Amino acid sequence: MVSAPMYYATTPEMAAAATGAGAFGFIAAGFTPSNTLVKEIQAARLITKTPSKAPVPIGVGLLGWILDKTEASDDPRIPAVLAERPVAIWFAFGVDLGKYVARVREYDAAREHKTIVFVIVNNVDEAVRAANEWKVEVLVVQGNEAGGHGRGDALPLFTLLPSVLAALPSGPVILAAGGISTGNQVAALLTMGADGVVIGSRLLCTPECMYPEQSKEVILNSKLSCTTRSDVFDEVNRTAMWPEGINGRAIVNDIVQDEKIGLDLEERLKKHDESKAKGDSNRLVIWAGDAIGFVNDEESTQSVLHQLHEEAVRAMQNSSKILVA
Ligand SMILES: Cc1cc2nc3c(=O)[nH]c(=O)nc-3n(C[C@H](O)[C@H](O)[C@H](O)COP(=O)(O)O)c2cc1C
Repeated sequence: MVSAPMYYATTPEMAAAATGAGAFGFIAAGFTPSNTLVKEIQAARLITKTPSKAPVPIGVGLLGWILDKTEASDDPRIPAVLAERPVAIWFAFGVDLGKYVARVREYDAAREHKTIVFVIVNNVDEAVRAANEWKVEVLVVQGNEAGGHGRGDALPLFTLLPSVLAALPSGPVILAAGGISTGNQVAALLTMGADGVVIGSRLLCTPECMYPEQSKEVILNSKLSCTTRSDVFDEVNRTAMWPEGINGRAIVNDIVQDEKIGLDLEERLKKHDESKAKGDSNRLVIWAGDAIGFVNDEESTQSVLHQLHEEAVRAMQNSSKILVA
């Protein structure tokens, strides 16, 4: 299992807890400056008690469209991150992620360290390109159910995963992501042929997650099918800068309703800002996927991941009885 990089949500504590629980944890960078990223990796190094020269057993998730700005600036993130020797790096959502994969390879070639490269893919073409052209080690096959950003036209995971597996029968490592919240789902995805799974939204109500308490409260009171994928959240959040075709899944609330009743952007921004100033939770942008329907309690990252592992093992043991019968 891998804990997803989630901007505004993951912390070094969460990534280290995931790795400590036998999974593998990521921190996330959006516009985070290099010096903060370096501090976060160093914090994870301390928590995981990793000696100073050894690779830190966590990964760093970077967004391609932001790298398009930062890597040409006087604060490029990739060299700063790689200098801290995280075990893995994760790229998502850019017009040409291949050039950033190449940058990692160049950096690694100059030293004795191989960084494992993960890339998110939302369709078969992206998967084939990342595997065959860029030769990444790990594909994260992200279905439409996923929380946060992804291609609006991505298929549901149960259709997307077998399509990618059929196109790439001999690898690379393939992880399933999107809407995963129970051990039964993990067992089903492994049985379908995934090498592992990525857990994102299921971890949003852990004490290690930096989501505000108000957002966690909303998640805990949310029901199944309370999220939608749309552009409206980025519009009122003033973050509508994502590449063509990428939008975000978040909790349905008055932000969606304001657009439905025909308010223009200016009116929607005004309502959003007023709600925020009053401290109301009905127009908060809460990035989250379908998985949150199963989040009913605040539990630690370690406890959630152990539970998922145990449930998955039980589900696979139970399903093996079908064969015997
Ligand atoms: C709050 C939140 C923030 C996210 N931020 C990022 C990010 O910074 N980079 C990224 O590649 N994916 C990001 N994602 C997507 C996750 O990497 C992952 O694909 C997704 O969480 C998996 O689906 P799930 O949330 O249904 O488990 C984010 C998801 C959430 C819920």
